[in-house]
Parts: sequence; C-alpha cells; structure tokens
Amino acid sequence: MYLQALDGLEPDAVLAKTVLDERGRPLLNAGTVLIPRYVAALRRRGLQAVYVRDGLADDLEPGDVVSEHLRASITSNVADVFRRVSLIADERGVPDGSVDTAVEALGEEPLQLDDGDGAVVAQLYADVEALLAEVLEGDAAAGLESLKTHSEYTFQHSVDVAVLGALLGRRLGLPHDRLRELALGCLLHDVGKTYIDHAILDKPGPLTEDEFDVVRQHPRMGYELVRRMPCASLLPAHVAYQHHEQQGGRGYPRGLVGSNSVAGRAVHERIGTGQMLLIAEIGAVADVYSALSSDRPYREAMAPDQVAGVVGEMAGRHLNRGIVATLRRLVPSYPVGRWVEVAGGELTGWRGVVSHVHPVDIDRPVVRLLLDADGEPLVRPDELDLRTAPDLGLRCLTGDEAPRAVRERVAS
Ligand SMILES: [Fe+2]
Ligand SMILES: [Fe+2]
Repeated sequence: MYLQALDGLEPDAVLAKTVLDERGRPLLNAGTVLIPRYVAALRRRGLQAVYVRDGLADDLEPGDVVSEHLRASITSNVADVFRRVSLIADERGVPDGSVDTAVEALGEEPLQLDDGDGAVVAQLYADVEALLAEVLEGDAAAGLESLKTHSEYTFQHSVDVAVLGALLGRRLGLPHDRLRELALGCLLHDVGKTYIDHAILDKPGPLTEDEFDVVRQHPRMGYELVRRMPCASLLPAHVAYQHHEQQGGRGYPRGLVGSNSVAGRAVHERIGTGQMLLIAEIGAVADVYSALSSDRPYREAMAPDQVAGVVGEMAGRHLNRGIVATLRRLVPSYPVGRWVEVAGGELTGWRGVVSHVHPVDIDRPVVRLLLDADGEPLVRPDELDLRTAPDLGLRCLTGDEAPRAVRERVAS
C-alpha cells in the first residue's frame, strides 16, 4: 500500500487502512472500494490523503508505533475528557474571557469530571499504560503518519503528541513513572483550549494580536485544569503549562528557559526554577512535530522530510537541541509507503515508494523504484538501497505530485 492524495485517486482504488473519525470510530473500513461518494465524504471531513492498494506496491505495510485499535480507543477517551471539561467551562462561564476569572470560578476544589471516584483520569492512566506497553515493544523504524480526519483535530493531535512523547522519553531513558506522567501530560497538554472560542482556534487565516493573546492563555488554563485532576503528581499539569515555552526564553506564558541538554536530568528536576522540565521540553518537541505534520485551517500538512528540516532549524533557540537530535534518529523522514523522488546522478527524477526503513540508519531507506525520470514505468521495479548510494538524496512527493506519477504510469 502507499499514501495517496485524494485528488489523484485512481478509479477502483481500494482503501488499505481503516479511516477513523475524530472520536476514533471507523468511518470507512480497509478493503472499501473508494467510489466518488466516499471520496467526497472523506474530503468533507478534512482528509487529504489515504492509504490505498491499487496493484502498484500492495505488499508494502507501513509500520505503526501504536495499533489502530488502541489509538482509536485513546482518542475517544481524550475526546470524552475534553467534553467533560467543556461542560464545566460552559457552566462556570468566563464572562470577561480572562484566565484569572476562569481560574477563580474553578475554585480550589477538585475538578468534577465524574462522580468523584476519579474514574475518568484512572481510565486515561490505563490508556497511558497500554500506550507505553506498545511503544516499548513497537517497530523501531515505524513512521508517525496518523491521518487526521477533522479540522477540529485536537483529540487525534493529543494522542500523536503522547505517542511521540513516549517514544522520545523511552529513547532518552526516562524511568517508567516519568514516562507515564509525560504521556498523560501530552494527552492533556491542550485541554486549556476548551476555554478558547472555536472561531479563534479554527480561524483559516493569521490571528490578530488580540486573538493571539487569547490563544496564549491555554497553557496556563491547562495547568489550572490538570492540577485539579486526580493525577499521581503535578508533572502532567506542568507539561500543559510549559509546552509553548522555548529554550531561549521567548515562549509563553512565562518565558521560562531551557538548557538544550538531555543528559542526567530526568530524576532530579525540580519545579519552579525558571527552567523548563525535561518532560515539558519533550512535550514541546512532540507538539511541534505533530502540528507541522497535520493539515491546519491555515496551511496543508508538511511531508515528513520537510517537518524534519523545520524541526532541525528550530533546535537550539526554540526546541531542545538534544531532544531534536534524538527525534532525528528515531523518526524516519521517508516512511514506508511514501512516494519519493531521487536526486543526484543518473537516477535524478526517478520516483518510487519507500519499501523499507533501516532502524540504525533511519534516513537512508530502501526505495522501490517504479517510474523513470520521464514517468515511464519500469518493466521490473527495482529496489534502491540508499545506504549503498551515498551520493543520492530523496524528497517526499507532496500534494498531487504522487498521483501525477501514477497517472503518468496508467496513461503510458
Ligand atoms: Fe498548545
Ligand atoms: Fe498542541
């Protein structure tokens, strides 16, 4: 299977991976023939691409760090928590829109998410344990391409941030209890957005200064909400509080600074030093990675190689340099199932689909070449191992570039 933009779908293409809605329920099952009515429905949901089988590279299976089933169930539980918090926000009201007033209205008692038995947060902890178990066993070279179905993407984004946060935390050697608090904090990092007007969150253009001031309140609001939940520690609340802070001190809401290091920090950190916590720095990297990889109302998703480039440029001043270096060794820029184009030497302009990623050399994958530089299909597809071709580079095809490649093949 490979990832295909909806714009260039061939007639009779078969969906290769089940598409879930924003609550984690199946929208279209794997095996469905993508008739125009279904494609229109997927588009209405804000989906840009799907995995398809059309005979070209059907044996390729993009790995998954976390199973589809678990991802769906956590997405639905996160959506449930956000809904419960929204009800509280509606009830207590935020008359003047200020975070101080909203916090005052919350009072100091625990947040009433359930009957007081803590079942809602206990369920999230159970989700986090299941997620960590899969991440610990998971495919080391799997991509992180989860397809978002909705313009209001917060729940799927929250799960993506938790999956990547857990992967990074594991690679950085965090002990289990820290990983658990990190993953829970990632699931809840944007819960403060329940207090922000949807018209601002989903605005398709740049925000005004006043609107951005409102958005900037969500980390503090998230902190105030999560610290009133029955968590095992204050750490998840601080992941929410600090996820928009930057290494150089130019983030918000408090202008904390980072150390750009990862070594020997996990266990002895304290809160309240003016420095970001390591788990919040991990959350910040995962948050940026997920946001850039997703379609947003104001721009299309970037391909994984572009995301890697942008995150690399943000290392140092914005994102923790050590964590970004870990990310670059962990997450492939050319995941299995992606269309790519070769650059360099005689193969310049040849196109194919990534067929294998080496866990130890994550950005030098094997590519199944399918089309030559003129778009002519190869009589026999050839496997190109980038590890044996150090002079060659790759670029992910984006938007309608990949379908154009397929159309050229079919037309020939
Ligand atoms: Fe955020
Ligand atoms: Fe976020």
